[in-house]
Amino acid sequence: MVNLSPHANGKGFAMRRKLIAGNWKMNGQRADGLALTREVMAGAKAVAAKADLLVCPPFTLISEIGAALAGSGVALGAQDCHAKVSGAHTGDVAAAMLADVGCRYVIVGHSERRTDHGETDAQVNAKAKAALAAGLIPIICIGETEAERDSGKTLAVVRSQLKGSIPEGATAANAVIAYEPVWAIGTGRTPTTPEVAEVHALVRKESGLGPDLRILYGGSMKPSNALELLALADVDGGLIGGASLKAADFLAIAKAAP
Ligand code: PGA
Repeated sequence: MVNLSPHANGKGFAMRRKLIAGNWKMNGQRADGLALTREVMAGAKAVAAKADLLVCPPFTLISEIGAALAGSGVALGAQDCHAKVSGAHTGDVAAAMLADVGCRYVIVGHSERRTDHGETDAQVNAKAKAALAAGLIPIICIGETEAERDSGKTLAVVRSQLKGSIPEGATAANAVIAYEPVWAIGTGRTPTTPEVAEVHALVRKESGLGPDLRILYGGSMKPSNALELLALADVDGGLIGGASLKAADFLAIAKAAP
């Protein structure tokens, strides 16, 4: 029987391949998006032994970049989806539409969606559920604000976001969690490695998704700090914003994986 788990080794113990995911956010037009894709593809073979690569371009570029990526081994994802299958939702995109143009992953509940669009855990849960129904792997994002960390609430916030955002039916084989402290995103600041390790261990335990679950760290990950973050026991990859817009940096992060 074919084992559909992206990271199981079929021997009954956890063997999580690192996942290095580029979240391009609202950046890129056709020419520079394609140029970036070609550069990532050119370096993909050299990092294939270390990590799986994923790029998440803006909606406008997904189809064209999907065509360019065909056969490259670099996976395609989107940055958001709607919870409903279709209908009167102007400006929104359904998960099945993303699957139709070649996506395997979709980011849901990114802190910028939670902040800019007021998305709640319940909405994130519904989006992740829609992703699963469409055969996509949701990358469910959680993370505390600076005020929450400063007041000692990090673990409670993460616990509550996990409880609210992980849909029924999620497993280690069909879902990914990304821990992204809001105050670390795009700021150049990161938590200390013990702080990251503490939250990732909590995510593994509280998610209930077990030893095979891939848990990504996101927030100012770059080539210079990638090794120390990716070497932590429960850090199974990165969700990279700014550094994913430069192929050399994105690939260097993957190369740094132990
Ligand atoms: P950053 O963004 O790498 O630019 O901090 C990460 C993210 O928001 O996913």
